[in-house]
Amino acid sequence: MTTTTPESIPRSEALAAAQLEARATLSWHQRGKKKVIAIGGLKGGVGKSTMSVYVALVYAVHYGLRVLLVDADPLSQTAYDWHRLAKKKGDPLPFAIETWPHARVGERVLEDTDDYDVVVIDCGGESSDIFGSAVAACDQVLFVTSPRKAEMRRIKGSLDGALSAAKEAGRLAQIDANVVFTRVKNSRGSHNEAARDKVRDAGYDLLAAEIPDLVDYEDAMETCPRDLGHYLQLVQTMEAAA
Ligand SMILES: Nc1ncnc2c1ncn2[C@@H]1O[C@H](COP(=O)(O)OP(=O)(O)OP(=O)(O)O)[C@@H](O)[C@H]1O
Ligand SMILES: [Mg+2]
Repeated sequence: MTTTTPESIPRSEALAAAQLEARATLSWHQRGKKKVIAIGGLKGGVGKSTMSVYVALVYAVHYGLRVLLVDADPLSQTAYDWHRLAKKKGDPLPFAIETWPHARVGERVLEDTDDYDVVVIDCGGESSDIFGSAVAACDQVLFVTSPRKAEMRRIKGSLDGALSAAKEAGRLAQIDANVVFTRVKNSRGSHNEAARDKVRDAGYDLLAAEIPDLVDYEDAMETCPRDLGHYLQLVQTMEAAA
């Protein structure tokens, strides 16, 4: 007679069981719904594409869901290039990719993504039309910024502008919108706290989970990261807050 001990369960079976357990915590998935997440923010390399890839990875790996990442950045197709180059190196990312960098991206997502459980849209930071279109089609918005002073100066205007399309469409109440800090340096706690206050003073919710500035995340580009790092907790916090 053979007994099944945790050690003797093949890794893939153990992973599938863990994914099943993780999925049970997603109420929208249990109701058979798809989730669309728009990721946008200020222009200039704050970490939007890195966040988009990792968030897609968390849903694919930790939850075992069918994920599509849409690269909607009209200027630099970082997410698409990352996906393509990782595949070329034999280290593919476990989700699908499309490039739809136009102001009808939201409609396209609503029409053409029935095969997926989660759609993550990397909206870039250049086009308010693209961000507006994505936001109008999404359930969740992550507005990515770093707590640096230069970015904080513009934060209220940027947020009001970015979310005006959703407001006009009367959708803001249905969307879970959060500001999220990335590339956080821990050198000065008071500096980060002042930035957190600025977001709250502007009337927006700040996600409690943050992404630190780490060389591991910088090096992750063009690979399939094995470690979900702080992004797992970020998605779990986002799901718990929704
Ligand atoms: N948490 C992090 N820690 C350290 N480096 C990071 C982190 N996140 C992103 N980076 C690095 O910062 C740079 C910009 O990141 P990324 O391309 O994700 O930003 P972006 O906001 O999408 O930029 P763009 O405005 O060009 O679209 C890259 O070199 C990336 O590797
Ligand atoms: Mg980008």
